[in-house]
Amino acid sequence: MNLTRRQWIKAGAQLSAASMLPWSLWADQPQVPHINIQARETTASWLAAPTPIWAYNQPKLTLQQGVMQTVRVTNLLPEPTTIHWHGVRVDNAMDGVSGLTQAPIEPGTSFDYHIMSPDAGTFWFHSHHNTIEQLARGLYGALVVTGNNEPRFERDWPLLMDDWSLSRNGRIDPAFANPHNQSHAGRMGNFLTINHQAGPWRSEANAGERVRLRLINAATNRILQLHAAFPGALWLAKDGQPLAIPEPVPEVIILGPGERWDIGWIARDAGQLLEVSGDEPLLVAQVDLNPSDGTEVPAFPDAMALPANPMPHLPAGVNQRVPVPLEGGTMGRLQSAQYQGEPHTFRELARNGQFWAISGQTGMTETPLFRARQGESVELLLDNRTAFPHTVHWHGHHAWENGRWHDSLTLLRGQQKAVRLIAGNPGKWLIHCHMIDHQATGMMTWFEVV
Ligand code: C2O
Ligand code: CU
Repeated sequence: MNLTRRQWIKAGAQLSAASMLPWSLWADQPQVPHINIQARETTASWLAAPTPIWAYNQPKLTLQQGVMQTVRVTNLLPEPTTIHWHGVRVDNAMDGVSGLTQAPIEPGTSFDYHIMSPDAGTFWFHSHHNTIEQLARGLYGALVVTGNNEPRFERDWPLLMDDWSLSRNGRIDPAFANPHNQSHAGRMGNFLTINHQAGPWRSEANAGERVRLRLINAATNRILQLHAAFPGALWLAKDGQPLAIPEPVPEVIILGPGERWDIGWIARDAGQLLEVSGDEPLLVAQVDLNPSDGTEVPAFPDAMALPANPMPHLPAGVNQRVPVPLEGGTMGRLQSAQYQGEPHTFRELARNGQFWAISGQTGMTETPLFRARQGESVELLLDNRTAFPHTVHWHGHHAWENGRWHDSLTLLRGQQKAVRLIAGNPGKWLIHCHMIDHQATGMMTWFEVV
């Protein structure tokens, strides 16, 4: 089923007419897939004292590739919210960016998202309103889109990793926006969770089973450096898009906020996932092996390769080249930038709580970073001129870099990467740093597809 928006609206109109029929007739109407999500306050039991958090009643959603799905989001929080479907090539009106693609969902009200993912793979969903606070309070979940021809995995585990800033009493540190953090690498947490549970995450596999690990970094600012000690594991996909040929998993996976890696592994031994950025490795996940029951062990790791998604064809030529210098921050050399349509010195920007710029602009602008016609091939020259790493995320699209598709890409200090994006669905799409402290203090702009 591949409904265009217009057809979808028609189907919706027919359904509401149907809902006025007597219920005996209504009972014969085809069922519309319908998911209810509530954004609400709840508590986590990680420590001796409970931790009040904000979370969705469904921490994981499963959608089917190519199937239109209604997701009704009800806001039970004390403030407005939205949901963004990170990496999913949705209609622009469903992208969930408050102030750009929709008005926020007010407390006590609902909003229906009509989501159809053309791609199977690993995505996630999260608040895109007051993100600096709402993401850090826990408003995110895993989004798995299943395809029809995917190879079979006996175990399929999303591992949604987050670091929380907890104080001694187990409460979330309420200093979400701290200028010192924001002008540096961002607020870092001190408590690791996996799928909203205290780490390490543990599970078991039978010998010979095929395991799919979906690594998702949901942290507000922290880049995870992961060592996947799963002997013989293969890297299957980045940001939901399958690699043409699975590759050996590198020694350290640099997983910036918002990025995803899918890993395939045949369990012949126990396996561990470690975070190795600190002095001591931190155990994130542990898979123990059940003793063999004598079943046949599949011998061909290549059988784990995921089928390609319907990605646009990459033409040889480029219609536009867009320089995207990332500037600012402490120890940066940013002298001045445009802010709210006026030039400001770095000092003035800092006084306004702004520290970062994209292409000489701080924060949202009247005119987009670039405008492209549907189907145009645009090369973005991402250029990190700051003293800190950044994970750049662009909405509604994947872009080609170094032989793979990405919707988010980490650039270490001084790094440059050219990515190629084929303009997709029309609309206004954000491009921003996914370190939310940077996004909230200037490193965010938008582009338009017409
Ligand atoms: Cu994951 Cu603009 O967001
Ligand atoms: Cu950044």
